[in-house]
Amino acid sequence: IKKIGVLTSGGDSPGMNAAIRAVVRASAFHNIECIGIYRGYQGMIEGDFKEMNARSVNNIINKGGTILKSARSKDFMTKEGRKQAHKNLLENNIDALVVIGGNGSFTGGLIFNEEYDFPVIGIPGTIDNDIYGTSFTLGYDTALNTVVEVIDKIRDTASSHNRLFFVEVMGRDAGHIALNAGIGAGAEEILIPEEDMGLDRLLDSLRKSKASGKSSSIVVIAEGDKIGKNVFELKDYVEENLPEYDVRVSILGHMQRGGTPSCFDRVLASRLGVKAVETLLEGKSNYMVGLLKDEIVLTPLEQAVKGKSQIEKELIRVSDIVSI
Ligand code: F6P
Repeated sequence: IKKIGVLTSGGDSPGMNAAIRAVVRASAFHNIECIGIYRGYQGMIEGDFKEMNARSVNNIINKGGTILKSARSKDFMTKEGRKQAHKNLLENNIDALVVIGGNGSFTGGLIFNEEYDFPVIGIPGTIDNDIYGTSFTLGYDTALNTVVEVIDKIRDTASSHNRLFFVEVMGRDAGHIALNAGIGAGAEEILIPEEDMGLDRLLDSLRKSKASGKSSSIVVIAEGDKIGKNVFELKDYVEENLPEYDVRVSILGHMQRGGTPSCFDRVLASRLGVKAVETLLEGKSNYMVGLLKDEIVLTPLEQAVKGKSQIEKELIRVSDIVSI
């Protein structure tokens, strides 16, 4: 391996810049070249490349977003798109790819590897934490802190007005953000796709909450929750059935994807970036680097794509206890 291409793909997440920095600098450290590929796979198809050296990544460790920009490329899902991307890589003498992204990005990398036998290493970067083979994805910790900080503010106004707030958080089909931020922010109930608590139990819990003397409540709902109602329908439903509640909705949205990465995400990004480059230098390919039990480990990319990340069920029990 003499020249590595690095790209960020899919939804951005805080810590991606720290990972780019680590990949670029680990390449420089090991005396290999590094090329930044802009706008993910789309930039690979369009030949949007830039040489990077250790100084190209100064002062980005603390920045949210991604200096390489990101995209969800439709063209890369086509054979022609991937053919063009491969041609561009060869023309630029790029030998291997480091893909920083989520499940969709890894799937793209896997297909590309199958078609062209091109070495690919994945670094999990998404706020959703929904990737098999790592306990933490880049940006997840920062997103949790953002969500908790915002819910703390919502709590102030909820308590002043004796209101119930439904706070919808991101996470796609996974409930990691909702569950962990929900506990961290002291939510009364947490609705996640992995556990269908049912509308009756929700009403029952809210009734009990009121009877026990609580004047305001926070219910965190994951965007992928399968309770069968969206957050606004849920508000109407609760107001109809429990008229004693004055309900408001707050959808946190993309603010969860931005902001200064936490120290945890920066350290994780640095460790994963170095490992990604060194894995390629060892002649290995088709792996995702991840963190399990505080060790950086490799998981075959295919397994990372096909495996299902699990929520910690124990957290549901903990939440039930601490929210009475
Ligand atoms: O995967 C990250 C994520 O922020 C999800 O939580 C969310 O469902 C999705 O991306 C939103 O995607 P977009 O930014 O394309 O609207």
